[in-house]
Amino acid sequence: MTQLEVSQFEKYFELATKGESIQVNFLESIASTNQWLLEQSSLQKTIICATDNQTQGRGRRGRHWSSQPGDSLCFSVGIRLNISAAKLSGLSLVIGIVLEEVLQPLIADSIKLKWPNDLLVNERKLSGILVETKSLKKDHVDLVIGVGINLGSMTEREPGSISLSECQIKQPLDVNYILAQLVAKMLSYLEEFERSGFSSFQQSWLNKAAWYKKPVNIITAEQTVSGIYSGIDVDGALILEHNGETKSYVAGEVSLRRDSNDTAN
Ligand code: BTN
Repeated sequence: MTQLEVSQFEKYFELATKGESIQVNFLESIASTNQWLLEQSSLQKTIICATDNQTQGRGRRGRHWSSQPGDSLCFSVGIRLNISAAKLSGLSLVIGIVLEEVLQPLIADSIKLKWPNDLLVNERKLSGILVETKSLKKDHVDLVIGVGINLGSMTEREPGSISLSECQIKQPLDVNYILAQLVAKMLSYLEEFERSGFSSFQQSWLNKAAWYKKPVNIITAEQTVSGIYSGIDVDGALILEHNGETKSYVAGEVSLRRDSNDTAN
């Protein structure tokens, strides 16, 4: 696996965006790339922070995402979007599409999107996304979009995880190339998201959804609800069908599990 290197990243980013440049900070080690960006005075100009050595990285629902050197690519994009907070739902699902579209050509195994924002390979977690808000104004939001992608041997492995190098790799893995492609596509899809929200991404997301049309459990703070995963709506909420009725669940403090009684592929 290659090392993060600003000049290599810039070369690939320029190629991917036909000449654009962006402010990047590659750090040898950091507590959390999300936290680093949340502490910046302004996100008016888009900034990237990346490392493969993250000591106190965080994930959704109180989880952690730490990385010894080479274990995972940890990066965050600090960005201002000209939308209101009410329009934010679905954003992290768009990031999932970006990850899938960039990573899938690199490996022969199929990548699936686990609602709301994990990437799975053979039912094991390859990548996770954590979007945090720095500030909310009437007409814009400053966001930190954090992504962790398992890369190497993973010294401290989370149960049920998989790394890119454990997949059937179709081309050499170059971390600068991967990051440049991810950031370039993210910026372009976020522009589309600013213009038209999640609706234009809804079908591409479902095409890659793990367990779509299958029995699943939704776990909330209070209860576990079982049903058939019958879709996602225009805001990215999951639609669950139960006893002939449908109910939608927004991402947040809810999580999705495959029903353990479902043995079908
Ligand atoms: C999850 O699966 O719960 C989300 C994990 C997100 C981890 C990434 S690594 C880079 C960025 N910085 C952090 O502290 N967290 C995110």
